Amino acid sequence: MSNNLTDRCYALLSQLNLIAADTKINVVPLTGGVASDIACIEADNQKWCVKFALPKLKVEADWFAPTHRNIAEYNWLCFAAEIVPQNAVQLFGYSDALQGFAMAYLSADDVYLYKAALLAGKDTGTEAGKIASVLGKIHLASSRDDFDASPFQNQDDFWALRIEPYLCYTASHHPDISDILLEEAERLYRSDTVLIHGDVSPKNIFFRHAEPVILDAECATMGDPCFDISFFLNHLILKAIHMPHRRQANLRAVGDFWQVYAHYICWEDVMVLEQRICQLVPALMLGRVDGKSPVEYLSLSEQETTRKLALKLIKTPHANLKELCNTLDSILS
Ligand SMILES: Nc1ncnc2c1ncn2[C@@H]1O[C@H](COP(=O)(O)OP(=O)(O)O)[C@@H](O)[C@H]1O
Ligand SMILES: [Mg+2]
Repeated sequence: MSNNLTDRCYALLSQLNLIAADTKINVVPLTGGVASDIACIEADNQKWCVKFALPKLKVEADWFAPTHRNIAEYNWLCFAAEIVPQNAVQLFGYSDALQGFAMAYLSADDVYLYKAALLAGKDTGTEAGKIASVLGKIHLASSRDDFDASPFQNQDDFWALRIEPYLCYTASHHPDISDILLEEAERLYRSDTVLIHGDVSPKNIFFRHAEPVILDAECATMGDPCFDISFFLNHLILKAIHMPHRRQANLRAVGDFWQVYAHYICWEDVMVLEQRICQLVPALMLGRVDGKSPVEYLSLSEQETTRKLALKLIKTPHANLKELCNTLDSILS
């Protein structure tokens, strides 16, 4: 296989019968990729987005199986297309040989990245509830007995990509609460209740015709729905800390999300799941300041605020999200 991105894009589109042999393609690499090559391809007045697992040679830290992630992502996107077609990106096929896939390139006047809208304070106040509905439907459908979980036995990748960097590494810097974080880590690793996406971050969510499209499912695995929910809500909370003038709007979005999501929970007691979320959210808050992947937009003083709040909430967890948001609101005001 060629290492040249244009060659690989050409080979993929040809193999998937998307272009003719003599078609000229224009390839623009997209940024953001840490362990995959992603590009926009233009040809014959059409646009595709292609994503490849990086060839082994190019991967420096080769401790997490790169190709598994690419297939996990494609499988998750296929399942989303089946369950929530209006919220899915159109897929054009996967190539085992090239370890890559093609999807529609999302771009139009009414397409925006949720993270950009949140950071600009331009979110409409309806996004969180819509994301809750999409996640709720996917979690619910995958909790059923007839769901084929066999393509999603990716708990070891999930440990390496999510649990270790966010929880275990953070635990090593906070001996007084390390037992709590490590217990949480073990529990998450052993859960396999639903299909989780694993990276439900505003940077991976586009809005298209006012509907969310969740991308970048490399961490998809059978797991605890608590992870997707807490991971997403943590992003809203960090932005509430970072943007005082949007604090109440972002905390309200936490409530909106939960109100919608709760309707889909039928695999366990709603309050039990909410309790786990109230424990995991502060652990992830701490993980985003003292873990391996610190959030880039918090100032030093915002990091300190986040750390203090997270430690308080880890040591004395709330039982429900309303109380958790009230505590955040009163301490931050
Ligand atoms: N289908 C798509 N259409 C348009 N842009 C995309 C598409 N998929 C990804 N991107 C852009 O590429 C960036 C990186 O893609 P992503 O799948 O999130 O990979 P990574 O694993 O590198 O985060 C995204 O933040 C987004 O801006
Ligand atoms: Mg991404």
